[in-house]
Amino acid sequence: MSKLDGTISLITGSARGIGRAMALRYAREGASVVVVDLQEAAAKAVAQEIQSLGGVADAFVADVGEPEQSTAMIKRVVERFGRLDVLVNNAGVIRVSPLLEVTPADWDFINHVNARGLFFAMQAGARQMMQQKPKADGRPRGKIINPAELQAIRIETVHHAQPAAVRQHLRQKRPLERFATAGEQNPANLRLGSALKNGLRCLAAR
Ligand SMILES: NC(=O)c1ccc[n+]([C@@H]2O[C@H](COP(=O)([O-])OP(=O)(O)OC[C@H]3O[C@@H](n4cnc5c(N)ncnc54)[C@H](O)[C@@H]3O)[C@@H](O)[C@H]2O)c1
Repeated sequence: MSKLDGTISLITGSARGIGRAMALRYAREGASVVVVDLQEAAAKAVAQEIQSLGGVADAFVADVGEPEQSTAMIKRVVERFGRLDVLVNNAGVIRVSPLLEVTPADWDFINHVNARGLFFAMQAGARQMMQQKPKADGRPRGKIINPAELQAIRIETVHHAQPAAVRQHLRQKRPLERFATAGEQNPANLRLGSALKNGLRCLAAR
């Protein structure tokens, strides 16, 4: 049995590319998959593909750069499936320009999704997962995966500031507790991770 079997997994930016490949793979591993993206038709097509293969999937639009939309996307998953086990903050954008040519609009475009979007989606997911009961077998009650990339270590373009920030954030010993304020629930047993990837082509999911 796969670790994903029976899980409720939400993958942002999964209408195409790496996110779509993950959505199809998660479904093959037995997860119920929620496809979230800005591209409604493509997101629904991924969900339909999963369903046609016998899997369980839902799809809807959210802009993860808008915190209230991230909150709404988590709420919708819980309304449909009762809980959220895995959140993959895959949605991201790239705009490559030489340093001297980066405009404030470029910076804001990238950060809207890659930094602000990732952070507040992570926060919304963590809020939900911390309310969920720990699993009886000691498995974490939720996992949040923040894909970063190898350039988080060797920054090459301005959009690499985001994976670098994610990586720095997760290098803290207890990132959730450091963000917690007095009186918040103990966030133990919730796993946060960053994954480094590089140079991937995901035109087709295998
Ligand atoms: N392809 C690579 O080689 C590679 C390497 C390292 C890291 N990455 C990172 O992995 C992620 C996915 O890469 P990809 O190549 O599949 O990208 P992609 O552009 O093919 O797919 C990204 C998806 O995210 C969606 N998206 C964009 N903004 C969004 C928003 N505000 N809210 C919700 N969805 C949004 C897009 O509509 C798109 O479907 C990106 O963050 C990218 O920077 C990619």
